[in-house]
Amino acid sequence: MKMIVCRDYAQMSRRAALHVVTAIANNPTAVLGFPTGDTPRGMYRELINLYNDCGLDFSGITVFNLDEYAGLAPNDPGSYRGYMLENLFRHVNIPVESTFCPDSLCEDAELECRRYEKLISESGGIDLMVLGIGVNGHIGFNEPGNDFIDCTHLVELAPETIAANSRFFPSMDMVPRRALSVGIGTIMRSRAILILASGAAKAEAVQKALQGPVTPGHPASILKMHPDVSWVLAEGAESKLIQHQPGRS
Ligand code: F6R
Repeated sequence: MKMIVCRDYAQMSRRAALHVVTAIANNPTAVLGFPTGDTPRGMYRELINLYNDCGLDFSGITVFNLDEYAGLAPNDPGSYRGYMLENLFRHVNIPVESTFCPDSLCEDAELECRRYEKLISESGGIDLMVLGIGVNGHIGFNEPGNDFIDCTHLVELAPETIAANSRFFPSMDMVPRRALSVGIGTIMRSRAILILASGAAKAEAVQKALQGPVTPGHPASILKMHPDVSWVLAEGAESKLIQHQPGRS
């Protein structure tokens, strides 16, 4: 496990972009897993700058989104498909047919989840999975619970996630209550994982993930079991980590 504490959000975004660029440079046909939310916006901006200024080539990569709200049309401004278009896809040369998101309007969620999981494995699996973390320790939309769920599945979002997501919608009533999300197994089967957290509001979730027990009650804690995880933290997300001093128990 690697951990980098950055000076600020801008530096975190540059470090994260560098990580993605390295993955693409090492493998121009890399399969990437990408999150939405506020945390990765700066990373996407950096990637767009690298495309415009340095010719970073996205034409060979494949992107799988971590999750999508159930029942929200892909052209809804609150949808994650819409988010990815606005924040990355329409600014770079990634072919639309190489970008995937769970189908939010599917009639049969179970079938759709199986289809999405199969698409990921048929693409050869995820080379680099980029994650954010929820205030309750969720990754993707794997909410705290009694079990780690392996594959893509339909999720009832936790009240704290609905509250946190309400900032992206005009009113609380409009915040989706359900989502389709890749599973913990989907994440753990990725060859490498990059996880970003910015802000003191994430400090407790980060501390429990890095220094607490591995438990489905705090889904990000499972990342300790992965051989190639990099945490990039900023703006106080590291502030609750307990410093272990040499020679003291
Ligand atoms: C979104 C996702 C979530 C977010 C998390 C943090 O695709 O998978 O796990 O990464 O909720 O969201 P922000 O970055 O908005 O704090």
